[in-house]
Amino acid sequence: MTSPRAVQASEVSRYPLTECAAPLDQVPALLERAHRLPRLDLDPNQLLDLEKLGNGTFSPLQGFQGSAETRSVTRDLRLLSGAPWSIPINLQVPVSDFERVSNQDEIALWNRAENKIAGTLRITEAFELDLLPHAELVFGTADRQHPGVNRHFEGGRFALAGPVQVLSQSQSPVPPRFDRSPRAMREEIERRGFRTITGFQTRNLGHKAHEHLQKIGLELTDGLLIHPLIGWKKAGDMLPDVILEGYEVLVDAYYPKERVILAGLTTAMRYAGPREAVFHAIIRRNFGCTHFIVGRDHAGVGNYYDKYAGHRIFDHFRPDELGITILKLHGPCYCAVCDEIVTERICPHGPAGWRDISGTEVRAMIARGERPPSTIMRPEIGDFLIRKSRAGAVFFEETPSPR
Ligand code: ADX
Repeated sequence: MTSPRAVQASEVSRYPLTECAAPLDQVPALLERAHRLPRLDLDPNQLLDLEKLGNGTFSPLQGFQGSAETRSVTRDLRLLSGAPWSIPINLQVPVSDFERVSNQDEIALWNRAENKIAGTLRITEAFELDLLPHAELVFGTADRQHPGVNRHFEGGRFALAGPVQVLSQSQSPVPPRFDRSPRAMREEIERRGFRTITGFQTRNLGHKAHEHLQKIGLELTDGLLIHPLIGWKKAGDMLPDVILEGYEVLVDAYYPKERVILAGLTTAMRYAGPREAVFHAIIRRNFGCTHFIVGRDHAGVGNYYDKYAGHRIFDHFRPDELGITILKLHGPCYCAVCDEIVTERICPHGPAGWRDISGTEVRAMIARGERPPSTIMRPEIGDFLIRKSRAGAVFFEETPSPR
């Protein structure tokens, strides 16, 4: 399940953060200069990507990737340096913008909603993405029904690449108490004295299968980082405030609070299944985690991926290359005979006695105002979701436009 020698927190420093944010004291002068550069408006997800480059979430990247590195990532799961990387970070731009700015040396990246400059890009390459093979390699499909593929195609084939410098933050979609940069998280982990800490990625509020997985992490390591993804997601996934507030309720009632950190990760879901498992693991290493949970159909959607492809993809890498130990966990479900949450590795009763815990089913119950049974969800969470749905929305009702 784990590699023979698990990563310790002290080793995370072997993976320095590449923070592309300008030093604070230089920002006013850099902003003044940036106002004279040609302008490119970024969409909200591109702004989030830019900020992730700024605060080191995407370390070791230092900018938007060019054609050679994109090819290397899509074909070989590696950066040109050889370091593992699984999903290209490209700046796709509409054709009209591409024609207008692609011959410039440097441009200002604007946050239109807040009418301010978010950063600058030194353009080292303006190129065309091979959208179709790219989709097939990254997502395993070019089917436009796949939300990540659709978003990739909607971004268009024109892309700009080069190093960035971040000059301002946009308003965070995450309340301050859940907002931590990788550096702040590494410091917090050190302050709390965790030698090891498990990262848990999720796009929904925890049901009992999630809790089971997280508690395996708590059993094996000193701390647990519950790190829900807050960013572009498809219809049916949960809204940010619901996930974060709901997790507060859950942790308060059922977790050893002093060993748990709850924070949001502000980046778009890609729904790239196994490749996203690698991407998510690298990000959590950057946040200081020593372990990362990959369960069944991690970052999957529909039936595009084999349920444990997210485990096998890690065979591409030597354990010491990623800097994080992957906890490859099998799907917990409720067993009617055991009357508890089990996995196929510990329960003999077979599928006849097992009841899968599905997010779709939870969603349908909440929509009907029904509290999911306590066998699959804590009553406090069921009640919380029903309260939230009466007061407003709980789930994205339609997939928001990527732009
Ligand atoms: S996602 O990031 O993988 O898209 P989700 O919230 O559905 O988010 O799952 C979070 C983590 O729990 C992933 O590692 C996923 O593989 C795992 N997981 C979720 N549900 C189950 C389940 N029923 N059985 C096993 N693993 C699960």
